Amino acid sequence: MTSPVRTERHDDVLVIVSDNPPVNALGAAVRQGLKDGVEEGLADDAVKAIVIRCDGRTFHAGADITEFGKPPQGPNLPETLDAMEASSKPVVAAIHGTALGGGLEVALSCHYRVAVPSAKLGLPEVNLGLLPGAGGTQRLPRVVGVEKALDMIVFGKPIGAKEAEAIGLVDKLADEDALAETAIAFAKEMAKKDSHPATSARTDKLPDATEVEQIFEDFKQKNHRKIRGFDAPAANIRCIHAAATLPFEEGIKVEREEFMKLMQGDQSKAQRHLFFAERQAAKIDDVPKDTPLIPVKKVGIIGAGTMGGGIAMNFLSAGIPVTMLEMKQEALDRGTGVMQKNYAGNVKRGRMSEEQAKAAMDRLSTTLDYADLADCDLVIEAVFESMDVKKDVFGKLDAHVKDGAILASNTSYLNVDEIAQATKRPGYVLGMHFFSPANVMKLLEVVRGAETRGDVLATVMALSKKIGKVAVVAGVCHGFIGNRMLSPRQREANKLILEGAKPWDIDRVHQEFGMPMGPFQMADLAGLDIGWHRDPNRIESLRDELCAMDRRGQKTGAGFYDYDENRRGTPSQDVEDLIRKWADKEGVEQREISDEQIRERTIYTMVNEGALILEEGMAQRASDIDVVWVYGYGWPRYRGGPMFWADLEGLDTIVGGLEKHADKMPELKMSALLKDKAAKGETFN
Ligand code: 3HC
Ligand code: NAI
Repeated sequence: MTSPVRTERHDDVLVIVSDNPPVNALGAAVRQGLKDGVEEGLADDAVKAIVIRCDGRTFHAGADITEFGKPPQGPNLPETLDAMEASSKPVVAAIHGTALGGGLEVALSCHYRVAVPSAKLGLPEVNLGLLPGAGGTQRLPRVVGVEKALDMIVFGKPIGAKEAEAIGLVDKLADEDALAETAIAFAKEMAKKDSHPATSARTDKLPDATEVEQIFEDFKQKNHRKIRGFDAPAANIRCIHAAATLPFEEGIKVEREEFMKLMQGDQSKAQRHLFFAERQAAKIDDVPKDTPLIPVKKVGIIGAGTMGGGIAMNFLSAGIPVTMLEMKQEALDRGTGVMQKNYAGNVKRGRMSEEQAKAAMDRLSTTLDYADLADCDLVIEAVFESMDVKKDVFGKLDAHVKDGAILASNTSYLNVDEIAQATKRPGYVLGMHFFSPANVMKLLEVVRGAETRGDVLATVMALSKKIGKVAVVAGVCHGFIGNRMLSPRQREANKLILEGAKPWDIDRVHQEFGMPMGPFQMADLAGLDIGWHRDPNRIESLRDELCAMDRRGQKTGAGFYDYDENRRGTPSQDVEDLIRKWADKEGVEQREISDEQIRERTIYTMVNEGALILEEGMAQRASDIDVVWVYGYGWPRYRGGPMFWADLEGLDTIVGGLEKHADKMPELKMSALLKDKAAKGETFN
């Protein structure tokens, strides 16, 4: 097999070039090539300096994640980097694209770093539940100081090359199209020096012993909420603390030990699963990869309400013009007003510049006339959740919008196939189910109708990435993937409170699990009057009675909880009494309910629903369901999504837990797929 690494001579500079598409990951062959390259440079007296660079779209974007968990092969990365750093001849990294993880660790082990302004540099291992395991936790603080290193490593967010230059991580910026020449010239210049700084030997950026503890204390205090539940951030912090307080060799030992612990833990397995799951979700099994896409240069949006405005912002921010249609001018004014406010908020929080916000709003036009949508390539409908209204809108769209344009519905539950039948182009109709707030939430369920064409689906999946969404294909069923799985959870939660569990105990169990909120906190946030018949005298359920009492959730200051002016909820005795009354009325005997039972009745039923979705072919793969729950509902990343979590829990445990409560759950349709996999000892992922 030919090596992905070659060497080139440019006068007295040896250039080691990696070419390992797509991202120059540091797999065994690349590590071997780097090691051999450095040895070649050292052995040849005519070589005075070494440059390390990559072909293709990026510098090394990290270790090869597909090797994790497999038996080690070839030289390991830390050894390779130590040899590089120990070189008596200067080694210069020439960086373009993204120098991430192991890639930045390569660069940190070089004596100097040259980068183009568009390059990004970072240690994102924490996002995989890991830490930089090739000296990154020890070398970065020595180059940029402890505070900056904490920021970069614990949050894993890359920085741009210009900022990297300002903080001393990059020594020289090169013109975008002159990286190799600049790095070679720089290396020649450096070769004239007598000695070259080994990062591991540096202490100039490390804090005084007297300041160290305070820096770490402040950092932990400020950020403890952001990193709650995750193992990796604390391990990263311990390593950086070691960098600041111990000699390099000792610090490296701490890094090694912490790295191995994380690598073997379930959290990192879950987060690595999600890395690949997210990328896999973009792929449509039966649509060829090279399917020609439909160009989308202009988008129409119907409805300027809660969803329409947010959806529009995604396209406007990505540079795509939008025309928004409403029934009345006032609705348009209200909608655009909210969008203006949201953009102003983004500017205030430093997420975009004022010019960018203005440019985005300038791409928006509004109308009351369908004729103005004639030249749109894609129109997304976000009107009231009513089949009649949607059919009427789609009929009009079909009549006015050019042939070959895609028509999408943002419906949460309605049948996309039925909506498609209101048009003469059902092949061009599909669902685009955004999540609220639509300008913020990353998830997009793309609902594939019975007749949706492959190129239409592929176009919308590609477009989703362009507007910063993570898209998952779902089939036509009630609630698609996410909301469908929510429904058995809510059903069981509602029954459990009559059986004796308190709403706040159920919510606590979900929060302790890592969810941002439990079923009753979610119900109060959404409003208990969603789907309510609005007749205060017609009281047929606990929920009807809560609505009739004007306890309709956070917006009325009370729901299952009482809310203060900051919308902080506290348990309500009135609600507790009311629940007991309804339990009596319905003849449900109240009893002590354990946290374990709550988990089994609510979270295990979600897994079962996920398995039904899979067996019905409503999701392409189990990992897509994980992506939906992580990006749409705040399922904790460190638990990898419901199907991955079920695998770890053991599918036989899930089946056993569900069967235990069979008498309490007559509505539960047990998934044959789940039972079958459990019996065979298989997993979903
Ligand atoms: N290892 C193996 N495969 C990788 C990879 C890696 N580090 N990074 C990306 N890939 C694969 C992806 O799975 C994808 O494969 P596919 O085409 O078969 O789906 C392909 O490369 C392209 O990736 P993207 O679709 O993500 O391409 P983008 O252009 O959108 O993004 C990127 C490029 C910013 C480099 C992004 O891929 C990324 O963030 N990669 C991971 C970076 C990372 O986490 N590095 C740290 C790794 S851990 C480490 O280094 C440990 C060390 O400290 C010891
Ligand atoms: P909304 O009530 O805030 O906005 C709907 C807008 O559509 C209103 O401004 C209304 O004037 C306009 N409208 C109604 N009929 C129209 C017509 N015939 N022609 C033009 N405009 C019309 O509703 P929201 O919350 O934005 O929901 C819209 C759709 O998005 C619904 O299908 C809903 O199920 C779905 N959805 C809602 C989510 C949410 O959290 N609010 C989340 C995901 C999907």
